[in-house]
Amino acid sequence: ASYQLWGGCFEEEPSNVLRRLNDSLAVDCRLYEEDIRGSKSWAQELHVSGHLSKEDNDSIQEGLCKVEIEIEEEFRRFGRLSDTEEDIHSAVERRLQRHAGEAALRLHTGRSRNDQSATDTRLWMLKSTKNLQAALIDLIAVLVQRAGKEIDIILPGYTHLQRAQPVLWSHFLLSHTWHMRDDVERLEDQHKRLSRCPLGSGALAGCALAIDRHRLARDLGFEGVTQNSMFAVSSRDHIVEFLNWVSLCSIHLSKLAEDLILYSSQEFAFVRFSDQFSTGSSLMPQKRNPDGLELARGAAGLMLGTSFGFSAVLKGLPSTYNKDLQCDKESLFTAYDKLLDCLKVVCGSIKTMEVNKERAESALEPGMLATDLALSLVRRGVPFRRAHHLVGAALRRADTLGVDLQQMSHQEYIAICPEFGCEKELSEVFSWSASIQQYVATGGTSTSSVKDQLDDMNAWIDQI
Ligand code: ARG
Repeated sequence: ASYQLWGGCFEEEPSNVLRRLNDSLAVDCRLYEEDIRGSKSWAQELHVSGHLSKEDNDSIQEGLCKVEIEIEEEFRRFGRLSDTEEDIHSAVERRLQRHAGEAALRLHTGRSRNDQSATDTRLWMLKSTKNLQAALIDLIAVLVQRAGKEIDIILPGYTHLQRAQPVLWSHFLLSHTWHMRDDVERLEDQHKRLSRCPLGSGALAGCALAIDRHRLARDLGFEGVTQNSMFAVSSRDHIVEFLNWVSLCSIHLSKLAEDLILYSSQEFAFVRFSDQFSTGSSLMPQKRNPDGLELARGAAGLMLGTSFGFSAVLKGLPSTYNKDLQCDKESLFTAYDKLLDCLKVVCGSIKTMEVNKERAESALEPGMLATDLALSLVRRGVPFRRAHHLVGAALRRADTLGVDLQQMSHQEYIAICPEFGCEKELSEVFSWSASIQQYVATGGTSTSSVKDQLDDMNAWIDQI
């Protein structure tokens, strides 16, 4: 027997090198469960709509169950399939012939690998994206838990990586959860487009047999059907959407990783990672490296490449099925596997790290209260732009005197502007926590608004 299902009009076998390029079993064998499910529903629909006898359907259903057990066993024992077929669809059909004999030859009636492959991939995505969503929610929950427990720790907030204003550590942790919560919602938005069943679209023209595609789609757990067969076998928009989503999601992980990598360096030392999520150096015995987070940061670059690369495959393709589309699975699986690992590593790193409150607070310096000093003038009626200038003058004066803003005497301030207030009022500006507690408007860093964020996040986690 020739190796391909389609060998009828060929006299020679394809060349080995073409086979190597063309064969996709090593990649798409991951779809075996979906392929078998799809075939079961297809046979059932052929039977119910009068195109397949009860006996043949029964043999096919039983045969497919055996094929599934057999494939699972092979994966368990060898981690791969030994078939010489070109793809998972051919492998399942060929194996079915061994169990169901003649009946197996009727399974592909009215079906093409084009609609079959599109269906398998969508089914796999519907199943697998749930794991990404769960891992993302775990990460959000860990950040939220830490934020709740460590709500009062203060650290410098940075812009341009320069000390800017004091903020709560919990506010910083929560800032990352808002990116991730949007990621969860963006993934959900894709679901309704993903959940349309292409099966029954044939190679491109549709299905010539009277079948009920809605019933078929329901049986497979889809929410609806694709409404155009040429679109159904051609579209990989759901893959592009997903890969773009993975890129954005990994950019968020990269940002969080970068913050923590920096904070774990000896110069900052705000955090220390657990042994479980640190690695050493083969040469320098003292090293504790945040390799996991670095790899998560690096993965964002790779994901961007995967996403961009697959979009480039689609650009310039004509309508309906072209073999270029077979690449979709490699990009899909690569992105999925990498992101899932990164989510888990980032989650584990954060869950098990220690935060050093004293170090974080010792990195604060009075210059970070310059904005508050300006605000104290504003409260006494000075226009903000002028207040900004006056504090600038105070900073220059302090610099000349070789002191910081807090050390500079009250007289020096009054000489610059009497609105700096009495000595007591001035000294009250120099409190990290008083500074932080001013930011009470929604979204600010005060304890009260961080508590509101926590409540909101916890409620969201509970309903998701
Ligand atoms: N393995 C292919 C894929 O995943 C499906 C095969 C369609 N082949 C064909 N010659 N039309 O895209």
